[in-house]
Amino acid sequence: MRIGILTGGGDCPALNAVIRAAVKTCIGFGWDVLGIEEGFDGLIHSKCRPLNNASVSGILHLGGTILGTTNSANPFCYPTLCDGGQVRETDVSDAVVSNFGKLGLDALIVIGGDGTLSIAEKFYEKGIPLVGVPKTIDNDIGGTVVTFGFDTAVNTAREALDKLHTTAESHRRVLVVEVMGRYSGWIAVHSGIAGGADIILIPEIPYNPAKVVETILLRERLGKHFSIVVVAEGAFEEGGHVIFAEAKQAGREQRLGGVGASVASVISELTGKETRVVVLGHLQRGGPPTTFDRVLGTRFGAAAARLVRKGAFGRMVALNPPDLESVPIREAIGRRKTVPVDSDIIESAREIGISFGN
Ligand code: F6P
Repeated sequence: MRIGILTGGGDCPALNAVIRAAVKTCIGFGWDVLGIEEGFDGLIHSKCRPLNNASVSGILHLGGTILGTTNSANPFCYPTLCDGGQVRETDVSDAVVSNFGKLGLDALIVIGGDGTLSIAEKFYEKGIPLVGVPKTIDNDIGGTVVTFGFDTAVNTAREALDKLHTTAESHRRVLVVEVMGRYSGWIAVHSGIAGGADIILIPEIPYNPAKVVETILLRERLGKHFSIVVVAEGAFEEGGHVIFAEAKQAGREQRLGGVGASVASVISELTGKETRVVVLGHLQRGGPPTTFDRVLGTRFGAAAARLVRKGAFGRMVALNPPDLESVPIREAIGRRKTVPVDSDIIESAREIGISFGN
């Protein structure tokens, strides 16, 4: 058997742990492994290299992906430069199917988020035998309790909050910290609770600026002259909408960003308090993975190879503690996992005085 492995979409801590485990397990089964470079782009342009035990040695603790990745190479709507200089989306998926055959591949392990797994599902329906591994710091993929990369991102955000606390307190300022997560508030909720935030704003609970201000002024009256506000990039005001960093570009998801600045300006205007914004951005995607993510990545990678051995194609590995299971990719991508607003984590946060701005 000859197995291809690719990583697609935004990078994420522990991608290398997954690659390493999948490669070692495949080799243990007596198979050859081909690393496809830069996601599906590697299958469009046949960019690949053989992977062996030496290629995956010493990568467990490294962030990023040794295979490279991209979130602008969807073969079903591939950005193509047309006559006249315009970029148009064209369907080059047949080239992928043909190259899969030309490279002598028997199966593909696709490591990616909802975008990459949606592409994988379409190729599975086009006849490519493949299995999926759910990756994203956003933790928004259905079918699995958690994705690898999330724990590391939350730790990075929590560490930043620990540092921002002391400067906020020293200067009696409000610090607004914008974290990633797209349309789910998982990173904001977990880092906010662990980092002692006073206010957490998430897409699942549209916020009312008057309530945000009320919490800050109440803290003032109680002698707490600083506040920490964690804002998920996808949070939005009641009756308002998500804020995007730029207009939609051909062949890629629209980038979110800017809500932190918007919340900060309202706070500063209505409270008169000095307010600063920190956008953590891609810091959350880098760095060495946590112990949890290294272990989960290793379990996911090995389990993906076992799914291939079973011929369980069209399925994705999933964590359902304490077990590793698999679910159809189709089901997982159809269900974005958001923070349930009636969950104990939200209830507990509210009970200790954290405001969600509503
Ligand atoms: O999905 C992961 C993620 O980091 C999101 O949290 C964020 O909105 C997006 O990717 C950023 O994408 P890019 O790397 O294209 O800026």
